[in-house]
Amino acid sequence: MNLSSPDDKELRNNALARTLIDRELRVRFAPEDEALRGSIASAKAENLPTIQISPLQGKLLQVLAMACGAHTILEIGALAGYSGVWLARALPTDGKLITLEVSPKHAEIVRTTFAAAGVDDRAEVRVGPTLDLLPTLVPEAPFDLIFIDADKENYPQYLDWAITLSRVGSLIVADNVIRGGRVFQVPPPDENAAGIAAYNRQIVEDPRLVSVAFPNDDDGMDGFAISVVRG
Ligand code: DHB
Ligand code: MG
Repeated sequence: MNLSSPDDKELRNNALARTLIDRELRVRFAPEDEALRGSIASAKAENLPTIQISPLQGKLLQVLAMACGAHTILEIGALAGYSGVWLARALPTDGKLITLEVSPKHAEIVRTTFAAAGVDDRAEVRVGPTLDLLPTLVPEAPFDLIFIDADKENYPQYLDWAITLSRVGSLIVADNVIRGGRVFQVPPPDENAAGIAAYNRQIVEDPRLVSVAFPNDDDGMDGFAISVVRG
């Protein structure tokens, strides 16, 4: 194999090109309205980490939700409600998004965000330790789309619950499955990388799922895994 050795100028050009392309795609395909921008602003004002998905990732979630005809969506990890707004807006008026949040303080911000975005009729936040809340959702299953974006070390357990709470044809989407490539290091450098590495292995090996992963964040260093449940 021929290895190339890009010089500094090339690398700078590539980084610049990627930034420009991302900006143009964002403007064309995923413009944010006041409520989405407000969600980021209130997260910053409350000193929450600014680790929201990107606008293009939000738009992708909408496309996926609509592609599987989602009436019911479960989100594991709400943060400030930014991805929840993208997801809820893909629902029909009688649809339902349930988002799980461990922090009561964050949950309050999420409620404010949902009200500002006009989706509080169909989007609900439930507060508590995620692994305590998940079993309580069995009577409300199946969910058509499940989005996992919470603490990384528990991703394998969240996947087990996502499958339990799904139907054939449901989509299971997970954020942060690349983490700059750290998830591919052997052994994994930390608990978070280990959790994601196990998740990535499970979604490939489980015969009930067909899965793919790809970089799709702002700088191409992290991204989504998408699995469809095939029963
Ligand atoms: C972290 C968590 C996320 O969900 C994310 O998208 C980026 C970073 C984190 O905990 O560091
Ligand atoms: Mg994330």
